[in-house]
Amino acid sequence: MAALASPVRSATKVLLLLPIGVASFTWTFQSTPTQCGNLSIAISGSGSPPYNVLIIPSGSTPFTNGTEVRKIISQPFSSNSVSFKLNYPGESQFVAVVSDSTGFGSGGTSATAEVTSSSDSSCIDASQSVSPNWFLNLDPTNQIVQCTATRIWWSPTNVSGTPSFFGVIPGGQSFVIPESGINTTTDTGTGFSWTPNIREGTTLHIVGNDDKGNGTGGSSRLTVGNNLQNDNSCLNQNSPSSTAGSPAGGSYPTDTSGDSTGGGSTSSGNNTGAIVGGVVGGVVGLLALILLLYFIRRRTKQNRRFNEKPVDLLPADEADERTNQPGEPPEYYRPDPFIVPEPTVDESLTTSGRPLSGSEGPSSRSGTPDLASTSTGTRKTGAPRILRPVNIIQHDDAGPSESAQNKEVEAETIELPPAYTNIRK
Ligand SMILES: *[C@@H]1O[C@H](CO)[C@@H](O)[C@H](O)[C@H]1NC(C)=O
Ligand SMILES: *[C@@H]1O[C@H](CO)[C@@H](O)[C@H](O)[C@H]1NC(C)=O
Ligand SMILES: *[C@@H]1O[C@H](CO)[C@@H](O)[C@H](O)[C@H]1NC(C)=O
Ligand SMILES: *[C@@H]1O[C@H](CO)[C@@H](O)[C@H](O)[C@H]1NC(C)=O
Ligand SMILES: *[C@@H]1O[C@H](CO)[C@@H](O)[C@H](O)[C@H]1NC(C)=O
Repeated sequence: MAALASPVRSATKVLLLLPIGVASFTWTFQSTPTQCGNLSIAISGSGSPPYNVLIIPSGSTPFTNGTEVRKIISQPFSSNSVSFKLNYPGESQFVAVVSDSTGFGSGGTSATAEVTSSSDSSCIDASQSVSPNWFLNLDPTNQIVQCTATRIWWSPTNVSGTPSFFGVIPGGQSFVIPESGINTTTDTGTGFSWTPNIREGTTLHIVGNDDKGNGTGGSSRLTVGNNLQNDNSCLNQNSPSSTAGSPAGGSYPTDTSGDSTGGGSTSSGNNTGAIVGGVVGGVVGLLALILLLYFIRRRTKQNRRFNEKPVDLLPADEADERTNQPGEPPEYYRPDPFIVPEPTVDESLTTSGRPLSGSEGPSSRSGTPDLASTSTGTRKTGAPRILRPVNIIQHDDAGPSESAQNKEVEAETIELPPAYTNIRK
């Protein structure tokens, strides 16, 4: 009965908390996490003490010889702030979870934070690796798959009491892994089966705890694997997620790039605004792209009508004539040479406009591609002077020592605007 009562109670809590959408309190790092420095954390809002902050090492040790010096830190506190020494080496990472008495993870989970280096190494003893009291194991080994049962097991020798396990999603939600049907088998020790209702691709830390404290069983970082049967029947809107809100902890260095998070004070309303803005911007951009494509096609049709067919001076250019792929600009406007297949018109136009100096091998055709692209704007106003440089380029053609690139250039420029303007007049 006792085993039943506690999952029911925590489920009720989750249901009570979710409609609010936000924890009743938030927390922030008051100082940048620094090697052997004091790490301060402050609570704001109305939590119910006592609090606890759990610091879980993440990523590999920064020592090249593989020595791991970081132990899981579980720091209780009762007032609205706490300060303790962070005995983690610089350039290592961790995740922090703050809880109050209402349940594990109630204050939110930080993103993966980065420890800043310092000259103080008094708290680090790298002469030997630390080790948990006991080890949590997974079966199948080191693998968690969406909606697929995994056995979490341990060897009872050094475990005191019945262990419990935390699931921690960096920048997302943290929770107590439900335990039921604990039994002992010969090959996988004592354990239970857990079906993770966590979406594939999510990063998840599993932390082992027993009566001696939190983290005594060590921790394991995994990425939730793809369910090959596409089974997502275990997922619903209450599933622990990495996107439920912005990372807790305020502003602090994350990962090795030293980037900071956006800050815990960002409300979900702001996020919605950003998403809506992104969608609107995307739609407008798509419309602009479609319009651009349409006009380019129209203009090319007109040109075709009035223009002589481009003269193919060089057999080599036949290779350049390809049929249009759907959604691709007409051949004439295609960036030439075709460097990398670009999915959008925009990108291809700008890349063709860029290489003015054109000294970098076959990818640039010294200047002439610019004429082609800019003339789309000037053609209707009829600017023959601008177009005349085409003739000059023909002169380049005459040069016997010119490279094949330059010859190609001539062919392209000859096709274009002069004939069009002449006909118009
Ligand atoms: C860290 O805090 C302790 C007391 O809590 C203090 O004695 C020490 O000077 C502090 N260290 C730094 C670097 O501020
Ligand atoms: C590992 O490297 C660190 C620093 O590079 C050194 O202080 C430590 O003694 C080494 N540990 C072992 C076990 O060799
Ligand atoms: C239990 O702990 C002792 C001392 O830390 C260690 O030597 C032993 O290997 C541990 N046993 C298991 C099964 O982990
Ligand atoms: C232990 O429990 C698992 C599922 O939780 C089950 O598949 C297995 O058969 C059980 N083993 C024994 C020996 O009861
Ligand atoms: C372990 O974590 C839970 C949840 O945060 C907390 O209530 C408990 O006091 C912690 N235990 C210890 C020994 O720190």
